[in-house]
Amino acid sequence: MNVMVVGGGGREHAIIKAIRKNPEVKDIYALPGNGGIAQDAICVNVDAEDLDGVVEFVRGHKEVIDFAVIAPDDPLCMGMVDAVEAEGIPCFGPNKDAAIIEGSKAFSKDLMKRYDIPTAEFETFTDMDDALEYVQTCKIPVVVKASGLAKGKGVLICETREDAVQAVKTIMEDKVFGASGDTVVIEEFLEGPEVTVLSFTDGKVLIPMISSMDHKRAGDGDTGLNTGGMGVVAPNPYYTEEIAQQCEEEIFLPTMIAMNKEGRTFKGCLYFGLMLTEDGPKVIEYNCRFGDPEAQVVLPLLDSDLLDIMKHVHDGTLEDADVRFARDEATCCVVMATEGYPGKYGKGFDIYIPDDIKDHVYVAGADLAEDGHLLSNGGRVLGVTERGKDIREAIDKAYESVSKIKFDHGFYRHDIGQRALKAL
Ligand code: AMP
Ligand code: GLY
Repeated sequence: MNVMVVGGGGREHAIIKAIRKNPEVKDIYALPGNGGIAQDAICVNVDAEDLDGVVEFVRGHKEVIDFAVIAPDDPLCMGMVDAVEAEGIPCFGPNKDAAIIEGSKAFSKDLMKRYDIPTAEFETFTDMDDALEYVQTCKIPVVVKASGLAKGKGVLICETREDAVQAVKTIMEDKVFGASGDTVVIEEFLEGPEVTVLSFTDGKVLIPMISSMDHKRAGDGDTGLNTGGMGVVAPNPYYTEEIAQQCEEEIFLPTMIAMNKEGRTFKGCLYFGLMLTEDGPKVIEYNCRFGDPEAQVVLPLLDSDLLDIMKHVHDGTLEDADVRFARDEATCCVVMATEGYPGKYGKGFDIYIPDDIKDHVYVAGADLAEDGHLLSNGGRVLGVTERGKDIREAIDKAYESVSKIKFDHGFYRHDIGQRALKAL
């Protein structure tokens, strides 16, 4: 059995390592993968966002590929699942009609409003003057969001009215996110702990995975610039059994049902970004895929077979799948990034990872040198994940592994998981 995985970051490495555990799997093709993934898969030099290139590869390899996983947001939103399935290869991931739940915030906010799913109050604008008028009188702080995909950067939190005016202009006039900013969503600023819950769903049943807590800021103590994520722990201690129950009833199942009613049945990993406000849990965002780095803490806690679950999701038989997480254990992922990230950073720095921890290191941005060591080639470079009997043990083990890695010009946060420990 051979599998194709589209994508080339830490999330894809975590997915590939999990799929590798299935004894029937022979070859895994990663498009494009990276130098770290190359140690677990055959990397094919086709960009994840090159729809025609991916389809061409599939056409040439129909006989050898049995199943495909389309992991990142852009390919899903451009309809890669539809295109690959049209070639006869079954995929894990939502089709284009369903991926819109991430691809258009205007769509997802409207969906939540119409189906009574709790989220921040909002208005949607396609005309800049209307948006500018609105921010003159709305409550402050306020959050201005490009409706479309923006590589995770399209959300601007505005503490003042001037900031809000600037945010609207940045998105709608300067078009820094291109056409993704043709529509903006302006929404109420919410407060409370944030929780991510990934779920498997085939449109009939929805199985939440273990909750997690991201660390977005670059520096210790949640200081510095926002990043793609500097570390994660799972489970998230704020996400109690009671809140989980409430989320299932008020958010998760209603979302699955709403998508069915819209004729946009979602099959794949549905990501719920939640804020636990004083008025209860509310949706901050939906993603149509595994989160990165969230996948790097959630998948290592999966004790059953990921590929088997993915096939059940595709077949619409998730009800019959064996989905087992180590619910009484914990994981911690510490991201190692290149000095300068999320600003300017250099490339080609040497990285040495001892063999005994290689299995727990997910590579996000590195090339493979001839002698087998890695050369940095990205902002976020490694995700080092360890599993423990509780969060404290997972944190200690993760930092112990980090200390064994030699990475010239690398840096990492020293306090991943501390917020979670305090909450306990
Ligand atoms: P998103 O890209 O939608 O996940 O937003 C990025 C981050 O912005 C979230 O993880 C939150 O921390 C923050 N955020 C988004 N929307 C809101 C909101 N309505 N109120 C407060 N913070 C928000
Ligand atoms: N970690 C957030 C995301 O994957 O969008």
